[in-house]
Amino acid sequence: MIKDPIQFPHDFLWGASTSAFQVEGAAADDGKGRTISDVRSEKNKDKQMDTSVSVGHYHHYKEDVQLMKELGMKSYRFSISWARIFPKGYENEPNQKGVDFYHNLLDELIKNGIEPIVTLYHFDLPMGLIEDYGGWLSRNTIDAFADYAEFMFKEFGSKVKYWLSINEQAVMSGNPGMIGIEGSDPFELNQKCQQASYHMFLAQAKAFALCHQILPNAKIGPAVSYITVLPASMASKDVLECKRLENYVSFSQMDTAVNGKIPQYYLNMLEEQGVKLETLPEDKDILKNGTADYLGLNWYCTMTGKYKKSEKVKSPLERAINLELVKNETLKSTEWGWTNDPIGFRYALLSCYERYQLPIIITENGWSSKDELVDGQIHDVNRIAYLNDHIYQMHLAMTKDGVDIISYNPWSFIDLLSVNDGMEKRYGLVYVDRDNFNEKELKRYKKDSFHFYSEVIRNNGSVVKAPEEY
Ligand code: BG6
Repeated sequence: MIKDPIQFPHDFLWGASTSAFQVEGAAADDGKGRTISDVRSEKNKDKQMDTSVSVGHYHHYKEDVQLMKELGMKSYRFSISWARIFPKGYENEPNQKGVDFYHNLLDELIKNGIEPIVTLYHFDLPMGLIEDYGGWLSRNTIDAFADYAEFMFKEFGSKVKYWLSINEQAVMSGNPGMIGIEGSDPFELNQKCQQASYHMFLAQAKAFALCHQILPNAKIGPAVSYITVLPASMASKDVLECKRLENYVSFSQMDTAVNGKIPQYYLNMLEEQGVKLETLPEDKDILKNGTADYLGLNWYCTMTGKYKKSEKVKSPLERAINLELVKNETLKSTEWGWTNDPIGFRYALLSCYERYQLPIIITENGWSSKDELVDGQIHDVNRIAYLNDHIYQMHLAMTKDGVDIISYNPWSFIDLLSVNDGMEKRYGLVYVDRDNFNEKELKRYKKDSFHFYSEVIRNNGSVVKAPEEY
């Protein structure tokens, strides 16, 4: 039997993704303030590229948008650097040059038929907020974020329909350095990080409410890191603990954003870790009055877990969840251990849709490798296979499982500064000719995956091949 070629809805938004500090460079240009991402990358400067030049998107944005157009992109998910708009994070007046840059970028995108999907805050908290208030530990940062969001909706609202609030809040609260929180005792650090995360929930809810009030036709959601956790065996205790980890890391974030209430299971887990949240009576209403219109999902891989009760509890998480992560021998992985599990992707999409029945935008999904430039070409076959198989499964999720997906934005449009691994670990469809220590001329090359994805977009999915096992 010959299968019909797959087809996506005619208005499906095929896109790609980046974030400000990972691509822009120009870290101190035109009045931009320093951010925690700048500071962290400077500290690592002898090991990898920092944010000062990065891949130079700030100065190459026109060339980059032309490449997006050539690729056929219908959407572009990127973030605005809070500190380009308000250098310390909380001034009364914006930095006009920063505002102008994003107007120019948005105009260029719109002129080329590309729908912007804009993240307000992707890991780059302005240092001013950390130095002057302690960052997310202070309620002042909630107000600063709400003021920044309000400014953004008013300034750019006529050009942006899709907004994302905070990228991967749980990743930040699990990594104190990413939000400028320091200390050595894991339990004290966790107490601080969870308080910071609680404040982020409130800030996000305020931004949701403001968006609805200022831009009734716009849509806003969170960008959640969703790692699907598979049980290593059929034992119920493995299944249960895997689900609890998924709840802790991912669904707690989505439940709060969608239902306007921090779920009880999450509060219980925090209590088991010894966390005591400082709350105010009005917080419940703030959360209730600002909820998401859609879900932004960053989904890369599955993990596999096995029940394990720690003899000696070393980390707060071990107090709440009895699980160890194990290698899944059935799956291929990147050099950094991220698995390739396309069916896991379909399963994840179905799980989210079952739970919320909200539209989904895939805000990240991708394959990292140490790509090599040989005679002007990059043969990134593993990335092509990853994209093909994930797009195929996404299509099954839409057609067989009825999941409402409106846009797919793989990570990343262009090679960029990996959060953990600098320029070694590349994700882009576009190659940038620089390494960690030599920026060369930042020349752009189209990888084989660029050509593959471009064909996918041009044919609205029909060139995607069914993997053999289906
Ligand atoms: C996501 C982030 O967690 O994963 C991105 O939103 C990040 O900013 C991506 O780049 C991949 O992680 P890494 O560490 O490989 O860059």
